[in-house]
Amino acid sequence: MAKVIALVGSKGGSGKSSTAHLIAHGAGSLPRPINAVVLTTDPEEEPRDDPRRYLVRDARTPALLLAELEHWLAQDRILVLVDGAAARPDLDAVVQDVADMALLPYKPAAQDAERAVLNLERLAKAVALPTAWPRHPGTARRVRRWLEMVPEKRRMAPFPALSKLDGLLSAEGYQAAAYDLAAPARGLVLEVLARAGIDPAELEEPRA
Ligand SMILES: Nc1ncnc2c1ncn2[C@@H]1O[C@H](COP(=O)(O)OP(=O)(O)OP(=O)(O)O)[C@@H](O)[C@H]1O
Ligand SMILES: [Mg+2]
Repeated sequence: MAKVIALVGSKGGSGKSSTAHLIAHGAGSLPRPINAVVLTTDPEEEPRDDPRRYLVRDARTPALLLAELEHWLAQDRILVLVDGAAARPDLDAVVQDVADMALLPYKPAAQDAERAVLNLERLAKAVALPTAWPRHPGTARRVRRWLEMVPEKRRMAPFPALSKLDGLLSAEGYQAAAYDLAAPARGLVLEVLARAGIDPAELEEPRA
């Protein structure tokens, strides 16, 4: 069966698009790849169709999103990443109903953590993903309180700040970063699937 992960949270740079694309890139970079598709719901974002290890589809209106979901949910083995629906109340309802998990990225800053807490209250199924987190222990210690503001049960382990992420949404940037991002992206997709209770083997192409 198809599995759906929705990247949710307020509009404004929390990391929804980057995370959706990274998870999809990781899925396509596994030793036994998982087919993945990112559904772009942001009216300000131009969906790309440059060659990637996953597909990107235009879902920028409720009608398009519904049609895309219907199409992909009918497929047997596919991981669907819905990028950014929860900032749009009209899309919220649709996505929350079909998603196997809602993932709420947030960055290490006061306002971001506060917003994450509010969004978690609103979105009962959502799990927070602290992202762009410092690796350096000293710096990590300084942002620890933004981690602890979110109840431990409702968050995943922090995902590190990665360089080269900025280009991910452009064709040239993707080509330049695809190799270096593959390892962290593989780790991320496996962690997310584990948290959602999805066995990757359910999504892999069956062995010939
Ligand atoms: N793990 C990370 N490491 C480094 N930079 C990151 C990470 N995650 C996100 N970013 C950066 O944060 C910025 C905002 O991320 P992104 O565009 O994914 O957010 P968004 O939630 O989709 O925003 P919007 O609501 O505007 O669509 C980008 O410049 C992206 O490169
Ligand atoms: Mg976005």
